[in-house]
Amino acid sequence: MVRVPLTGSETPFAPVSPFAAAIAHAFDVTLVVCAVLGLAVAGAIGYSLVAFRARAGAADPPQIAGHRALEVVWTVVPLAIVTGLFVMTVATMAKSDPPAERAPDLTVVAHQWWWEVRYASGAITANEIHVPVGASLLVRLESADVVHDFSVPQLTRKMDAVPGHPNHFWLRADAAGAYGGACFEFCGAQHAWMRLLVLADPLQAFDAWQAAQRAPARPPVEAAAVRGESLFRAEACGSCHAVIGRSFVGSVAPDLTHVASRTTLAAGVLDDTPDGLRAWLRDPQAVKPGSHMPSFNLSEAQVSDLASYLEGLR
Ligand code: CUA
Repeated sequence: MVRVPLTGSETPFAPVSPFAAAIAHAFDVTLVVCAVLGLAVAGAIGYSLVAFRARAGAADPPQIAGHRALEVVWTVVPLAIVTGLFVMTVATMAKSDPPAERAPDLTVVAHQWWWEVRYASGAITANEIHVPVGASLLVRLESADVVHDFSVPQLTRKMDAVPGHPNHFWLRADAAGAYGGACFEFCGAQHAWMRLLVLADPLQAFDAWQAAQRAPARPPVEAAAVRGESLFRAEACGSCHAVIGRSFVGSVAPDLTHVASRTTLAAGVLDDTPDGLRAWLRDPQAVKPGSHMPSFNLSEAQVSDLASYLEGLR
């Protein structure tokens, strides 16, 4: 099996959007405040253990119960710290989660175990999201089955995908590149293989990608691909998968109209290459046990034909 290297960085410590930057900043400040507090408390305890340890014949240290100045200090200082963290948290929420008074730019639907991505423009893809550099896109997040959790830490806040309760969040990348993400809430056997990529391109490249994704599928030309499409029809692949323009309209599995233009297959398990396609078609249950793609026990020739067909769907 071909394992995909992590093509996108997934660190929350290198934010590439104002939303992620606000969260990273809140984390840094909280970490420093807590580290200073932790050291101060541990230091005071350590000092007291040594300075006031029991010694033969020593008198008790001076007793200070009810000491007014101390009472004021250890009430006011923690209150000030907690209030400061609260104010900073509210400010962070306002920056990482600004309100939106408009329709979403794209809808992401979490499935066991892949991500469906539908743009308002009509472009459809899976397990990868393309964005133009520097633009804030409003994402509507849904779930088709159980609770999932969308996370692309360099670009945005985490957000739960809850069945029947759409959530919204902002997605933005201020630098071109590939940013890794994953599902962050246990959602079944293949939770760990709900990877996704956000690919940020300059506006012109994004527009070209979007136009290509909106086009109907190219009809198969080569003999192998034509046989592959017949097999696709005979095996009723189209009852789950759509290939727009080729009369396949299934809607419960990833849209395959431009499947060969993507980076990975099976939400990050395989590289989207002819070899990857063949490995997946040969035995999806070996590649991703428990996934809803059944094994069809195809012959090697059938696997090859089907892969030729799908490889032509760019
Ligand atoms: Cu979807 Cu975990």
